[in-house]
Amino acid sequence: MNAKTALPAHGRAREDVLAELSGYAADDPDYKHGRLWSLVYYLDEEHEAFLGQAYQAFSSANGLNPTAFKSLKRLENDIIASVGDMLHGTPEVCGVVTSGGTESCLLAVKTYRDLARRRGVTRPEMVLTPTAHVAWFKASEYFGVKLRLLALDDDLRADVSRLPRLLNRNTVMVLGSAPGYPHGTIDPIEAMAALAAKRGIPLHVDACVGGFILPFMEAGGRTLPPWDYRVPGVTSISADIHKYGFASKGASTITYRNLEYLKHQMFVHQDWPGGVFASPALLGTRPGGAYAAAWAAMQHFGKDGYCDLARRTMQAFDRLREGVAAIDGLQVLGDPSGPLLAYGAADPQVNIYAVGDQMDARGWNVNRLQNPDGLHAMITANHLPVVEPYLRDLQGAVQTVRANPALARTGTAATYGLISHLPLRGMVRKQVLDLFAQMYRAGGTDIDLHQMPPPPGGLRGQAQRWLERAAQWYVQRRQARGGRR
Ligand SMILES: Cc1ncc(COP(=O)(O)O)c(C=O)c1O
Repeated sequence: MNAKTALPAHGRAREDVLAELSGYAADDPDYKHGRLWSLVYYLDEEHEAFLGQAYQAFSSANGLNPTAFKSLKRLENDIIASVGDMLHGTPEVCGVVTSGGTESCLLAVKTYRDLARRRGVTRPEMVLTPTAHVAWFKASEYFGVKLRLLALDDDLRADVSRLPRLLNRNTVMVLGSAPGYPHGTIDPIEAMAALAAKRGIPLHVDACVGGFILPFMEAGGRTLPPWDYRVPGVTSISADIHKYGFASKGASTITYRNLEYLKHQMFVHQDWPGGVFASPALLGTRPGGAYAAAWAAMQHFGKDGYCDLARRTMQAFDRLREGVAAIDGLQVLGDPSGPLLAYGAADPQVNIYAVGDQMDARGWNVNRLQNPDGLHAMITANHLPVVEPYLRDLQGAVQTVRANPALARTGTAATYGLISHLPLRGMVRKQVLDLFAQMYRAGGTDIDLHQMPPPPGGLRGQAQRWLERAAQWYVQRRQARGGRR
């Protein structure tokens, strides 16, 4: 990384700055041609330009004070009303536009913690599966809400039979995902919500991924388990516009069944010398451009546009699922509803992380999963044209890995094998923290976390070899026990 060390002494021409800026993107993943299977929801340049125009028109507007920028409050009202309708809520459904899925998740935890405080809960707990998005684990750490982990069933959904024993008077909320990020499975929301409601506990549905696609998959004829406001015990839902809503980055929603819940999300400080301060969400300044682009995307697509996107996405999903299942040595993990797909090895001769390395070498960019080991695909309509080449390369990657078992001990396969199987999770955490700190030290570095280079001070040598042996021992022990931990 060639970091700039100071501001230019003299300002530069705008064209010059823009030209250099576009150079910064040169090493980024090729998301415009469907090579990247996470992080980005991209359609085409025309849509990007449209979003850019909408964003630009409000890029200086600030949603911090809804009484100042009435335009932004109107945009927010429109968005929330449409989302409430899309999620089959009553007109009582209310909420706010947030900066992204993580903000929406953090807010739900804060809201339910504070709601429970009213009934004297001082040691709050929340119930969620290990596959809930990491934003929920972050929220637990930030807001001091203890995690109670709900195990998965064989299809990698929340095992609802285990829920009752996790609920107690300190439970402030239960979380279900629709779908969960790692495996694309929808939790049994109806049964979970019924159990939670019986004890007066709120249930939040994380539909950050699903919010803007599941309703349109259903409208297109797919049968899905009930998960939205039609389920009586569902008290709130997060749904991201910057994912399958195809807005610019920085737009999600959190809605509540009614104002009695939302009230606990608000922050007011009446004594601040800067004036009486009230804020509905986590941020102070709230970016008007993101609201405008989100509103514009929703108006542009409308129900039929989103139905068409969902249809194309699911065409790609179905083909990919079928194609992966047909490759000897691979299997789909769980029973995904789409649009996310996870797959792993069905044969000990195939190291799935080595397959990932081979896919990288063929110009794809795929995410790795752990518990169980796997590869991941977040599928959009933009992937439809590349599904067949992807499957051909996947088939080739598996053949290469079968023919070269040593590949499992090189590249990121070695790193991931180590990270995901090491029993000493605290060591993994510490090493990743050290690497991350390196990345953010003054001046920055180009470290790739996935390569796990030695941390400062050099753990490599003996300690690293010991860690590797410990990982091997653990994997062997697990295999001897038939895959159980
Ligand atoms: C289910 C789920 N919830 C929450 C989030 C967090 O969203 P964001 O990355 O917009 O903060 C994600 C992101 O992928 C997600 O998949």
